[in-house]
Amino acid sequence: MKRNKADKGAPAPLAKLPTTVTDIPEVRPGQSVALLQELHILTRDGKLNQDSRRKLKQVYHLYQFIEPLLNDVVKEKGTVSLVDHGAGKSYLGFILYDLFFKALQNDSHIYGIETRDELVQRSRELAAKFAFPGMSFLPLSVAESTTSTELPPTIDVVTALHACNTATDDAIDFALKKHAKHIVLVPCCQAEVASVLKKNKGQSLGRSALTEIWRHPIHTREFGSQVTNVLRCLQLEAHGYQVNVTELVGWEHSMKNELIIATYKNLPRRRPAERLQEVLETVGLQEMRERFYTAEIEQAGA
Ligand SMILES: C[S@@+](CC[C@H](N)C(=O)[O-])C[C@H]1O[C@@H](n2cnc3c(N)ncnc32)[C@H](O)[C@@H]1O
Repeated sequence: MKRNKADKGAPAPLAKLPTTVTDIPEVRPGQSVALLQELHILTRDGKLNQDSRRKLKQVYHLYQFIEPLLNDVVKEKGTVSLVDHGAGKSYLGFILYDLFFKALQNDSHIYGIETRDELVQRSRELAAKFAFPGMSFLPLSVAESTTSTELPPTIDVVTALHACNTATDDAIDFALKKHAKHIVLVPCCQAEVASVLKKNKGQSLGRSALTEIWRHPIHTREFGSQVTNVLRCLQLEAHGYQVNVTELVGWEHSMKNELIIATYKNLPRRRPAERLQEVLETVGLQEMRERFYTAEIEQAGA
């Protein structure tokens, strides 16, 4: 369609586009083209540019990991609830809903948790526009959502993609308290551990040659980030989860592409809990015991 200059800013009329696309191989059968346009994954003309092709590939790549987890819950219970923390524009939530939840036609539900009001508002509008009744968006921090009465007492699947700083840790706390069966995390940079490493550097250096690993500031930051994810994995294992850590390939635009998938198996917890304490002591992070609490600490009321 040829458009004149005055038309340039206006969205292309959706009626002129097919509702599902067969000539764009990246778009899955049954997937809403209009939704992909609203999410700016497809252009207003219903096309994919290089950037959006990459974005779609990335979301599908992640979907590939999440779909079997959703199927697992649905097979067991018939319905599935998912909370996406630090949802942002909710690309993931909307694509999961369109590709999986929509067809269930039951009480399955996706909750998006996001502190930025305007993003929550926009997602609510989009869910209303596409008549997705099983989607809710709450203007809450991850920590607030753990005690919010707007969320059910248990949640099946918890996701947090690039949720900033300690929001990933709050998402783990949320998942543990909500007895989530599956947890999918792509952590963002976490500055808290690095700042404690930095603060305690004076005492730690000289204790062991291994402290050289975080002596230089850039290494403090990188090692802080690495050890944070190690502690998160141990914490999840100490709560009975089986943990897999892999790379979210295709996420080239981001330096942070570690994917942590945890599934509750009621596994023995003592060894990972002991290991976690040992790591905290070895690197001088004892004061972070509450952040990476294990069942014993929780029971003791810490
Ligand atoms: C980097 S964006 C990621 C958005 C989305 N998950 C994605 O991968 O496209 C992080 C989002 O988390 C939100 N956020 C940061 N800290 C949060 C917190 N403590 N609770 C809830 N949302 C938070 C930010 O407002 C932002 O929208």
